[in-house]
Amino acid sequence: MPVRSPTLNVMANAALKAARGLIRGFGEVEQLQVSVKGPGDFVSTADLKAERTLKAELTRARPGYGLLSEEGGGTAGSDSRHRWIVDPLDGTTNFLHGIPHFSISIALERDGEVVAGLVYDPTRDEMFSAEKGAGAFLNDRRLRVSARRRLDEAVIATGIPALQSEAQETYLATLAAVMAATAGVRRLGSAALDLAYVAAGRCDGFWEFGLSPWDVAAGLLLVREAGGYVSDLSGGQTMMASGDVLAANDHLHLPLAVLLKEARRARPAA
Ligand code: IPD
Ligand code: CA
Ligand code: CA
Repeated sequence: MPVRSPTLNVMANAALKAARGLIRGFGEVEQLQVSVKGPGDFVSTADLKAERTLKAELTRARPGYGLLSEEGGGTAGSDSRHRWIVDPLDGTTNFLHGIPHFSISIALERDGEVVAGLVYDPTRDEMFSAEKGAGAFLNDRRLRVSARRRLDEAVIATGIPALQSEAQETYLATLAAVMAATAGVRRLGSAALDLAYVAAGRCDGFWEFGLSPWDVAAGLLLVREAGGYVSDLSGGQTMMASGDVLAANDHLHLPLAVLLKEARRARPAA
């Protein structure tokens, strides 16, 4: 059984503490589905509370580090080399609808590079973690991306834009291309977990456009440390800045990149 580093311990303890609140909140949300007002406000409260817990725990353990989080934006620390990147609740729409698939994502950046990542799924008690150069783990088990080589046997996760996104047409062209070439496409609803599932070999690849740094910071490291390959949609490494992500095992990354590129060329962005 691998011994967790002090850094991963800090991240794991923070995630476990925040998760207790989320699980309590999720129980309430299931009750609120039938109320007229719905669980909307309640969910934002649970989200903000998880963020406060994470911030308090991470700052207590590493007082000088900066923090970038979805709800709170960026806070600079006295230590300009280190920054936490946090999504307290990834999969809000699932949470809101009582669908038990959401996560907490925590990454640590050193000198602008992510060196540790943790994605925790509270409903399954699955903790995915990685440190640069030290491999990726699901709880105590070492992870490896899938070995599948054939697209027609591959299951690919994705994120579908919502609410009249400008990118809808382009996205639909990529979806059509991947649907036609693979064994199945999954929209699970938490980008951080999608990447963790690629690291775990559950999905053979993942693509999405327009994500935020807190959605992907931890998950990208998980995939790399599990032996997979990550890029933006042009094969570059701008994922954190552009929000465009393609992750897969080494065999499938190139064929998927070609599929997506051709689909996008046929249907350029609006
Ligand atoms: C969302 C989830 C979803 C992805 C969206 C994200 P949130 O994050 O990761 O899977 O498709 O693009 O915004 O809003 O639930 O934290
Ligand atoms: Ca998110
Ligand atoms: Ca979120």
